Amino acid sequence: MRRHPVRWHTGGPGAAQRLLGRLRARLEEQRRAEAHRLLEADLRGLWREACTGVGLCQHIDVAAGLTVRTPRFGALRLAPTGTSFTVELLPGGEPTDIEAHAARLAHSLGFAGLRIQPLAGRWVRVVLFEIDPLASTYRLPRTVTGRADDAVLLGRAEDGALIEHALASPGHLAVQGQNGSGKTQLSYGLLAQLCAAGDVLITGSDITGLLLGRVWNGTAHRDWQVTGSRDLAAHAEHLDRLVTWMDQRLDAMPPRQDSVTPTVQTPLVLVVLEEFPGLLRAAQAKDKKLAERITSAVLRLLSEGRKAAFRVLMLAQRFEANAVGGGYARDQFAVRLSFRVPADSLAMLHGDDARPLGPEHANAAPGIAYLSAPGHDCTRLRAPYVGGYGHFCDRISQLARRADGTEETP
Ligand SMILES: Nc1ncnc2c1ncn2[C@@H]1O[C@H](COP(=O)(O)OP(=O)(O)OP(=O)(O)O)[C@@H](O)[C@H]1O
Ligand SMILES: [Mg+2]
Repeated sequence: MRRHPVRWHTGGPGAAQRLLGRLRARLEEQRRAEAHRLLEADLRGLWREACTGVGLCQHIDVAAGLTVRTPRFGALRLAPTGTSFTVELLPGGEPTDIEAHAARLAHSLGFAGLRIQPLAGRWVRVVLFEIDPLASTYRLPRTVTGRADDAVLLGRAEDGALIEHALASPGHLAVQGQNGSGKTQLSYGLLAQLCAAGDVLITGSDITGLLLGRVWNGTAHRDWQVTGSRDLAAHAEHLDRLVTWMDQRLDAMPPRQDSVTPTVQTPLVLVVLEEFPGLLRAAQAKDKKLAERITSAVLRLLSEGRKAAFRVLMLAQRFEANAVGGGYARDQFAVRLSFRVPADSLAMLHGDDARPLGPEHANAAPGIAYLSAPGHDCTRLRAPYVGGYGHFCDRISQLARRADGTEETP
């Protein structure tokens, strides 16, 4: 019988193949590490130049002359989720110093934007993104919320994060923007998400008759909406009716409770006021008393509505105090969104912090908004797009809650 030699020194049958495989993998790993090292060196140099370029640096006088110190580049991370690197802040520096130059720094590095994540101690992570989430339109997903305390989508922020808001959380919503800047589209999106919720009633006044009105025929919400500009007294009456309902709720508040929790029997009442300054102007032109009646009803809804599960969504081209019922009325909005507006209008609704963004935002594309809300300071976002009026009509007619007779009525 022929004996096979025992090739113990080479590892037995197939060992050469395995050895080759291991060598190839090691070579591949070395190539990757080398590419990573080169890219890291490249970005380190670019980061230094970019920081110097935008003035994010300190000049230090040493014996050899003047040297420039920039926030120190740590290590690069190339993950499937994105590119990022660590940076040590300058002495006395804060993450906001980098954020203030975010767009310019990102562009110098060849990216569309960046976001800062604080790490331990003086270190932060600079996360880079290749596409600008604000630059592209995106469709509103076909999802609806079932409850008032479920979050609805407001938009997508510059870092790609989704920004949501639960209607049940305290706070009225103010939306301003010039003609054609995206206010109504945002509202189409909000109402399309809320229309099926069992504990939300969509009410209000809309002189344009597009956001509310006809579209809602056959739904539980339609009886609570007044549209058109022919009968302005009907708007005033309707707002008074809402105030009466709110008062009844406040009077009937159970003991040891200071606010109404939205339920199917006591729904959250969303009062939509589309183009509210237009309604006020039209009322003023007709009868000063009528305008005063409308203003005082809205003021009451704004100041006391929160406790009675009433929320106001007011839309205006510009939130000038005398156009929206006074500075007091304007101060009642916790969630404020500005689509394209002149720089002074932006500062008027969002405060002086928004001023640096004024000139850029004055030319923002439709659908891009600036948001101030609890937990969201100075955030820019792109609102989702329902796809035009026809799509809004389809969603409402297919999804909106039908009347079933169990509703509370004042
Ligand atoms: N989120 C968005 N994404 C993409 N396009 C948008 C978006 N929002 C608005 N647009 C575009 O801008 C147009 C005008 O938007 P919209 O009707 O909402 O403006 P508006 O602010 O309500 O204006 P007006 O003051 O005239 O009522 C839309 O028809 C649409 O083409
Ligand atoms: Mg509009």
